[in-house]
Amino acid sequence: MTNTLAGRLAVNASVPVQASRWPARLDLAQSISGLLLALFMWGHMLFVSSILISQDAMWTITKLFEGYFFFGRSYPGIVAVIIALVFGLFILHAGLALRKFPANYRQYALFRHHMRGMKHEDTTLWYWQVMTGFALFFLATAHLWWMLTHPGNIGPFASADRVWGDNFWILYLFLLFAVELHGGIGLYRLAVKWGVFEGDDPAASRRKLRTVKWTITAFLIVLGLATLAAYVKIGMAHEDQRGERYTPAWVEHPEEHAP
Ligand code: HEM
Repeated sequence: MTNTLAGRLAVNASVPVQASRWPARLDLAQSISGLLLALFMWGHMLFVSSILISQDAMWTITKLFEGYFFFGRSYPGIVAVIIALVFGLFILHAGLALRKFPANYRQYALFRHHMRGMKHEDTTLWYWQVMTGFALFFLATAHLWWMLTHPGNIGPFASADRVWGDNFWILYLFLLFAVELHGGIGLYRLAVKWGVFEGDDPAASRRKLRTVKWTITAFLIVLGLATLAAYVKIGMAHEDQRGERYTPAWVEHPEEHAP
């Protein structure tokens, strides 16, 4: 048994490899799960940033997901099911993405070498997608596990107490940049890969796509930072009443707010 590289390649070359549709199927599953997660994150940012409108708005959206306006009381179990589905999709996507990670240092070094040599923006974007993907393995898991085990602990005060009182702002600061960069690059690469928006001049439409990508990413990061600052501000002001849940005035004193 030779252990030179050439020898090993010769041995591998002699192993008959059946043409398989599985790599293409797994790629498609990765694209679809990535697209669904990116669209989920746009919705998520909309719901979480409702705190910028008012605490009542964020309370109302939270209660909507808990079925409060439908069943007359809250069922955090509904939120737990949604989180479990998102967590499952996240794990599927991460597992499929592992196939694309450099399998060893040699591949990693080779890629870095090419990236530096080519100075090709899409190649550099892919590198940052891998790096942010790696970070999301840990950052998103911490957030999803906490949410899954505390589904009823969401609201203007409950979220602010967690963001400030439990220092989740540190996790969210890294998570925000990682997820917005990763999601933005992901959607851009999906559009390029599947030829969406590809006009007569592919190079020109790719440049336009990149501009749109960076504009959306910058917008979501600025909105995310403003949202995080709002939760921190409420958390600081609420430090002495930490643990108290938010109730809108029109729920607490309905008689005073009757139409
Ligand atoms: C169904 C699943 C999810 C639920 C219910 C959820 C819920 C929330 C809530 C209520 C907040 C506000 C702060 C808090 O209460 O701690 C928040 C913040 C945040 N979440 Fe999620 N989340 C989910 C999934 C995710 C995923 C998959 C990611 C990224 C991979 C993510 C990224 C973030 C970020 C970055 C923040 C900070 C917000 C900001 O900076 O503006 N979340 N999430």
